[in-house]
Amino acid sequence: MTQYQNRAFNQFITNMHELFAKKLPEVQQWEGVKPLLSSLLEDQEFQRKSRDWVKKKGREYILHHDTKYDFFVGALVREPKHVAMAHDHGPTWTIYGVLDGDEITHIYERLDNGENEGYAKLELKTRTEAPAGSVDVVPPYVIHAEKGSSERSVAITVRTTKPGSYDQTMFNLETGKTGISRGLELIPLAV
Ligand SMILES: [Fe+2]
Repeated sequence: MTQYQNRAFNQFITNMHELFAKKLPEVQQWEGVKPLLSSLLEDQEFQRKSRDWVKKKGREYILHHDTKYDFFVGALVREPKHVAMAHDHGPTWTIYGVLDGDEITHIYERLDNGENEGYAKLELKTRTEAPAGSVDVVPPYVIHAEKGSSERSVAITVRTTKPGSYDQTMFNLETGKTGISRGLELIPLAV
């Protein structure tokens, strides 16, 4: 079993293994990650540790990539007034929790039927304040954008697999243009 220095993170990985060993139906399994991530976000030592993580746009830290179940745990450190492009995570699930600072989550609905290739028409469905401790479940193909709402914020991502192995669609809200991305630059980080 992988051992991390941070106790709460070790516990989180153990809990994830127990959850995934149940082989629950997809939706139930990913909904089940929500309370596990919530309790990790409450750990003050983990919160403190995250304050040393260097913030850089376009970077995602690798905290854990599971050798047994393939799930991935990452960290995003947001710059002041960070604005993320609207995007989806392709066929993968993401459980997204704010560890430190404040963010705002936007969820969009796609209004067109995709027949005009390279273009999409989106409508803002919800805008939710996401202070530290908030956890969102982002199912496959849900279009969203996370924005910073404080000087600095840190988010923990729990994903189906390591980013970079699947296509994500990026949406330009001004021009309507869409593009394909393979995710951010991945940098290992010891916890
Ligand atoms: Fe996202």
